Amino acid sequence: MSTVIAQQLRLRDGHRRVARDLRVSLTDRCNLRCAYCMPAEGLAWIPGPDVLTDDEVVRLVGVAVTRLGVRKIRFTGGEPLLRRGLAGIVAAVGRFRTDEGERPELSLTTNGIGLDRQVAALVHAGLERVNVSLDSLDRERYAALARRDRLPDVLRGLEAAGAAGLRPVKVNTVAMRGANDVDIVPLAEFCLARGYELRFIEHMPLGPQHAWDRSQLMAGAEILARLSERFELTPAPGRGSSPSEDWIVSAGRDHPAGRIGVIASVTAPFCAACDRTRLTADGQVRTCLFSHTETDLRSPLRAGADDAELAALWVDAHTAKPAGHGIDDADFHQPSRTMSSIGG
Ligand code: 5AD
Ligand code: SF4
Repeated sequence: MSTVIAQQLRLRDGHRRVARDLRVSLTDRCNLRCAYCMPAEGLAWIPGPDVLTDDEVVRLVGVAVTRLGVRKIRFTGGEPLLRRGLAGIVAAVGRFRTDEGERPELSLTTNGIGLDRQVAALVHAGLERVNVSLDSLDRERYAALARRDRLPDVLRGLEAAGAAGLRPVKVNTVAMRGANDVDIVPLAEFCLARGYELRFIEHMPLGPQHAWDRSQLMAGAEILARLSERFELTPAPGRGSSPSEDWIVSAGRDHPAGRIGVIASVTAPFCAACDRTRLTADGQVRTCLFSHTETDLRSPLRAGADDAELAALWVDAHTAKPAGHGIDDADFHQPSRTMSSIGG
């Protein structure tokens, strides 16, 4: 009887959306300091005791998968490869079954540093897909944006991901005027040649406070215009709830065919189709990247709440999910957490 009731719970909100995709931030720490994500220095870390243990993460993800209809799990950070228990968490989460009786789909968003050393264990644990952040192929521009000279490590990680059989390997690029817009076409050529799916992301106001400058924004339409000068693009069918608008690149003389996407979160928000829910490394549910409120699951979990109680709290959090991020609203103010502690 109780399983019947449990199966009826969904992360439904007041705007007819159901969340099936969970982003789990495993740490707010990172070995880079990307300018659009973190301040150069002086960001306070989440105190160690507040960070969920591996068992606590697995328990909460289990509630989402087995009771709340979540079908996809993406591990993020900060940098999730810095989380020592990552492979164990992936393996444990892979043992849950969704409301459809399937394994949840398991993926990772990473900056790629150290991926070469960890990818075999992660694939063995059940990881299926990876998104690697890469904003420039030019070592100096990469180092300027990430504030660390780590491009060679990232390239090694990317290559290892492909060699380990992860498909597709996706590459995420935040395009910014004056910083890396000159990299748009070279990154596309690089990814097409290797069979990676490249996705350009519009810069969102989620980094250090006041670091976002609209004049630096490369709008999706501009990115596409740059790409169209070099490639023949046709729209890919079937977007679903994907934030990415994808394009098929026809094969050319000097490059194979492929797929490129643009995530225009600012100029063409996809909030109406959003199917995300988020769990921070310190056990807070966020219904949106831009939320100003969080729902604490860590305290009730540590106070002995059972799975049904935790599920009910998560459901409640979603009833109040805002319709959209409102970046263009006059009264918009960005959340106090940076992306590194929310999880991308
Ligand atoms: N705007 C857009 N994308 C961002 N990311 C981090 N901060 C921002 C931001 N302010 C991206 C990273 C990574 C993913 C997790 O989110 O580049 O690819
Ligand atoms: Fe680290 Fe990702 Fe933030 Fe860059 S964007 S500083 S790689 S968490």
